[in-house]
Amino acid sequence: MFRTAYVNGRYVRHADAAVHVEDRGYQLADGVYEVVELHEGDFIDLTGHLDRLDRSLSELAIAAPMSRLALVAVLREVARRNRIRSGFVYLQVTRGVAPRDHAFPKTPVRPALVVTARPADPAKGDAMAAAGVAAITRPDERWDRVDIKTIGLLPNALAKQAAREAGALEAILVDADGHVTEGASTNVWIVTADGALVTRPADRGILRGITRTTVLKVAAAEGLSVEERRFTVAEALAAREVFLTSAGNLVMPIVTLDGRPIANGAPGSVATRLRAAFRGVAEHVPLQGSNKSA
Ligand code: PDD
Repeated sequence: MFRTAYVNGRYVRHADAAVHVEDRGYQLADGVYEVVELHEGDFIDLTGHLDRLDRSLSELAIAAPMSRLALVAVLREVARRNRIRSGFVYLQVTRGVAPRDHAFPKTPVRPALVVTARPADPAKGDAMAAAGVAAITRPDERWDRVDIKTIGLLPNALAKQAAREAGALEAILVDADGHVTEGASTNVWIVTADGALVTRPADRGILRGITRTTVLKVAAAEGLSVEERRFTVAEALAAREVFLTSAGNLVMPIVTLDGRPIANGAPGSVATRLRAAFRGVAEHVPLQGSNKSA
């Protein structure tokens, strides 16, 4: 079996999958994306991801490449052809192909759609969460509209690389006032000394994570108090717990920040509880099933 990707209407061998050299995503990062988790035959929080995709597209005045029903059929088909039951689907929509010009094409072109999928072993994430991960802090050097999930990820990529070089999983981005915004590809939370969950409001300083939204629901169901407010690096270092959330990591405890242990340097009970309860609250959309759902 070879890997399959979907590129602009065709299912092609992953190794041969290609877009045009004048795709505006390739030249100008003029596009948006989503990463959706697949867990044991279900899409997790698919509706939230597709709603956010619609919002990202409309903020950038990019047309939807196809109806939601058709898009879900493509996502299902890519997962099916790659025989993936647990892993991730990646989908990217760019404004399309046009002679290079910063301004939009005068005659609108068709948006370009690429979908890929890769398998992942959920047990690996669970093992990582049981041990906890390291993070470092980096200045947030991104533009103002990080609420849009664009493929313009160079500052995120540079921050993540710095984390890798420091032996850490994530770079926690810090704004000019010393407040944490979010991770390079995750949202960041702390648990204060009195047990309150704190995460930055989903204003323009962060991406409104779909996992973040579900974790807010999990916290409510667990009777935990949540404060959506900004917090500083000093508060994170003094916190009882620090953790991150994303489709790829679910709820992942951070046990060291810039080489300093958080509390006793072990995963905390709140993060562990939220992670354990996550799948019971998240939306599950079967991979096999009617394309009328979602
Ligand atoms: N990243 N913040 C940023 C900057 C992100 O890129 C992401 C997602 C998140 C978490 O969003 P969600 O809970 O919807 O995954 C927050 C994806 C997974 C990525 O770029 O691979």
